[in-house]
Amino acid sequence: MLFVGVDLGTTAVKMLLMDKKGSIKRVVSREYPLYMNENGWSDQEPDDWRAASADGIKELIAGFDPDEIQSVSFSGQMHGLVLLDEDDRVIRRAILWNDQRTSAECDYLNNEIGKNRLIDHTANIALTGFTAPKILWVKKNEPENFKRAAKIMLPKDYIAYKLSGVFATDYSDASGMLLLDVKNKKWDSFMLELLGIDEGKLAKLYQSYETVGTVCERASRETGLPRSVKVVIGGGDQAVGAVGSGTVVNNMCSVSLGTSGVVFVASDSFKADYEKSALHSFCHAAGKYHMMGVTLAAAGSNKWWVENVLNETDYAKEQAEIGELGHNRVFFLPYLNGERTPKNDPDARGAFIGMSMTTKRSDMTQAVLEGVTFSLRDILEIVRNLGINVDTARIIGGGAKSPIWRQMTADILNVRVETVNITEGPALGAAILAAVGAGAFASVEEACKALIKVTNIYTPNKEAAECYNRRYQIYKKLYDDLKDTFKLI
Ligand code: XUL
Repeated sequence: MLFVGVDLGTTAVKMLLMDKKGSIKRVVSREYPLYMNENGWSDQEPDDWRAASADGIKELIAGFDPDEIQSVSFSGQMHGLVLLDEDDRVIRRAILWNDQRTSAECDYLNNEIGKNRLIDHTANIALTGFTAPKILWVKKNEPENFKRAAKIMLPKDYIAYKLSGVFATDYSDASGMLLLDVKNKKWDSFMLELLGIDEGKLAKLYQSYETVGTVCERASRETGLPRSVKVVIGGGDQAVGAVGSGTVVNNMCSVSLGTSGVVFVASDSFKADYEKSALHSFCHAAGKYHMMGVTLAAAGSNKWWVENVLNETDYAKEQAEIGELGHNRVFFLPYLNGERTPKNDPDARGAFIGMSMTTKRSDMTQAVLEGVTFSLRDILEIVRNLGINVDTARIIGGGAKSPIWRQMTADILNVRVETVNITEGPALGAAILAAVGAGAFASVEEACKALIKVTNIYTPNKEAAECYNRRYQIYKKLYDDLKDTFKLI
């Protein structure tokens, strides 16, 4: 029995073939162009995704018995707006999650409709990346395109549609549209009316591990997948990535040190962040709910420091000189791209502070890792203030390869940090959803229990954790002191 996981990312699509024991048979990826301009617009061609996935799947399964392949599922870059006309033609390039063109629409939604009303209906507030503000932008700036739109869909759902001919989506990805009543898992009629779209333009909703159809004839020819292969709808990349690290049980947490950083907490019950409107409250691909916060430059800050500033490529060598954890005097604010959670401040900027004549290069390297981890603590503090007790976190993403960063995460967040045996992230999560959809496991939780094992554990060092507690108070004050100055830069 073989299962295909497809992770539709922003720079590339990654495809993975897995058997029932979780052994990875092959991984393939294909890149495609990203169209960005200086106004902060970010677009992609949906047909590039389709062609890259079809071609990649062909290579992925070459040489394997096609009848062994049971199912395919997806992880997708979230929030992107794909519009199809009545004849299923793509109307315009997809507007992506990292596009910044919708600040006027977000101001309207958050200030005129009101944050609390948005949270009442969708559990979230408007952010420039989310889908509903993009729909409003198209309605205002491209009214012809808005009128022609017969189907409004998310990126991975376009691939699933092309593969199966079924217009479907799942609760986790739909949560990021600001159109879903997340708590009750249905499209929200108030939001649809506000935007002027009827429900017929939106996909039917499923759990991420549900089968929505099988491979259609054309896709079978393009990919080599037999027509019997089940198409399981999959979910948004953060939720599916959490499945890939086994973060599926109530109050379980994962910390991702990718280009951006994410604190993700699985939850059996629905919770919304009314007080700070800072955390995203979404459905989980495992079936229930999750909350998460995003810091925009995590491993991205470290890459900037090592590669752009120091002009080096050996990360381990830079980190080998780092002294005792907790005792650095230098601080770094990691807001190189502005900040999402909890500051929601596009004007915030990076800063080093606290250097003296004795400061060494390694103190600054250490400060970068610490600053990023403090920004993750900012998110975790909100989670904890909501009464969610987090004592363990699975660490994932490129930055998690660094043993010193793992220990620092344990010390600064004051949690037990675990690494896991398979680090294929969302592509693995998608293959797990495919396996559950094909009936190979009774639930996502059962599949994760069988396939994902903890490999290393890092516990907080008491003394370092105390030092970091004190330093975290200074870190917080630095942003408060500087935030008005950032606006002048
Ligand atoms: C989630 C988010 C990103 C994108 C792209 O809210 O913005 O994870 O899905 O990866």
